[in-house]
Amino acid sequence: MKKFKQLMIIGVKANGKVAAEAALKMNRWERIAFLEDDPSISFCMGIRIVDRIDEVFKYINDYEILVALGDNKIRAQLHEEMKKAGAVIPKVVHPAAVIGEMVEIGRGTVVMAGAIINCSSRIGEGCMICSGASIDHDNLIEDYVHIAPGVHTAGTVTIGKHSWVGIGSVISNNISIASDSTIGAGAVVLKNIIEAGIYAGVPARKIK
Ligand SMILES: CC(C)(COP(=O)(O)OP(=O)(O)OC[C@H]1O[C@@H](n2cnc3c(N)ncnc32)[C@H](O)[C@@H]1OP(=O)(O)O)[C@@H](O)C(=O)NCCC(=O)NCCS
Repeated sequence: MKKFKQLMIIGVKANGKVAAEAALKMNRWERIAFLEDDPSISFCMGIRIVDRIDEVFKYINDYEILVALGDNKIRAQLHEEMKKAGAVIPKVVHPAAVIGEMVEIGRGTVVMAGAIINCSSRIGEGCMICSGASIDHDNLIEDYVHIAPGVHTAGTVTIGKHSWVGIGSVISNNISIASDSTIGAGAVVLKNIIEAGIYAGVPARKIK
């Protein structure tokens, strides 16, 4: 795959900021810049916001492009547009993450410090795997999933596309979670979730 020495991160709020932190620590790009629509922000962590998000097409011949917007579906849409436009999309893995053998990580995914992804797990495209999360062996984390800090998934878990897994939650072994699900902070998921919705509590139950 083609590589550029410059990285453009789309979105400067929580996800963009932590993605920039991981990208800086990788020491791979000579220049990192942001695109952001909030006119009140000019810099983030000393990195300049150079343009509005809809100007991204100007940059795809010189920069690798990482879509780091917080909303899973909006991130998915722009990531797909970037793929169609032929953008070079990197994966961003903090050097303090631990990545096991035979792990696959899709492009546009960010893995933060302290995250552990154990052997034979597959992480899709455009995912966020936040600080200190652990994904055990043989998991399938589908595209555009957000795994918040400190989540633990046991072995052979599947988490469907666009799902959002809240801070500190625990997913037991062999569990499947339907696409578009939300798992609340601190939930313990002990049964398959077959219908999208919001699930919380110990054990997790549908609340919405
Ligand atoms: C699950 C969640 C998304 C639901 O948000 P919401 O739709 O706004 O839900 P509400 O606040 O209206 O709560 C509805 C009910 O569920 C309960 N509830 C909400 N979240 C809960 C949780 N995590 N655990 C247990 N109960 C929860 C509320 O107490 C409320 O109960 P009540 O009707 O008896 O008062 C949210 O509470 C949550 O846990 N977010 C995770 C935040 C997080 O992980 N942030 C990290 C970002 S990286």
